[in-house]
Amino acid sequence: MGDKKRADFYDGPAHDYLRYWDGRDYEQAAEEVAVRRLLRGRHFGRAVDVGGGYGRLCVLLGEFADRVTLAEPSERQLEVAEHFLGVDPSIDRVRTQADDLVFEDGSFDLVTMIRVSHHLPEPTAEFAEISRVLEPGGTAVVEVANLAHGLNRLRYLLRREPVPTEPVDIRSAENRHDDEIPFVNHNPRVVIEQLAAAGLRTERVLSVSNLRSPTLKRLLPHRLRVALEGLLQPVLAKVYFGPSVFLLLRKG
Ligand SMILES: C[S@@+](CC[C@H](N)C(=O)[O-])C[C@H]1O[C@@H](n2cnc3c(N)ncnc32)[C@H](O)[C@@H]1O
Repeated sequence: MGDKKRADFYDGPAHDYLRYWDGRDYEQAAEEVAVRRLLRGRHFGRAVDVGGGYGRLCVLLGEFADRVTLAEPSERQLEVAEHFLGVDPSIDRVRTQADDLVFEDGSFDLVTMIRVSHHLPEPTAEFAEISRVLEPGGTAVVEVANLAHGLNRLRYLLRREPVPTEPVDIRSAENRHDDEIPFVNHNPRVVIEQLAAAGLRTERVLSVSNLRSPTLKRLLPHRLRVALEGLLQPVLAKVYFGPSVFLLLRKG
């Protein structure tokens, strides 16, 4: 793996990522709606989900691609994937990390990287790798942990400060040490520029998980909340409202 710092934080006992999804049906549905909307009507030969964890989204990606590769640096997540995905010959599992992918140039026509950007305070190397392993004209879907979401925008406005262009560390005080996994939010405008510099042009933006709130969870039945979420994703994209922004990108 060369001299890259290992990104195997999710091997640790603090990261029971499968359990993390307990009770998060709305977020799961919101992300599925977004991925389906971005990929609708397309079909790919080889897809790779970079930092795919235990394969939460691999089955969904399988609806759009002949073969899916789960590319994940954590041994433990790959072990969980054994149970979660079961024996599925159309899904390969490879231990590798985003800034040093083990794949040849142009190996895939679809690359996804979802819920990984918040662990990448300086994502230039990872974006370059995504671009490298995509074939010319290939498609990528990258999720951005959004610093400019509606509530934050209001907070910065009240403090009469602009939304920072630099990533903001959102770890609690006790977790702010070097051996703890980085946790940042990014300014999506800056991320779009960083991706463009890597040769990935943004074609479409969606604002995702717009209705993530305990109050709305109590007030709105799940199906209604997901239906509203679907309506809001393209509309609120213009102002980067949601805590999560999904980008559809094309190489070249
Ligand atoms: C919040 S989980 C998201 C997993 C999956 N993408 C999903 O949405 O369910 C973050 C994942 O990013 C992986 N990760 C962290 N740093 C990484 C890096 N530098 N390269 C690739 N994956 C990384 C972790 O091992 C973990 O599986």
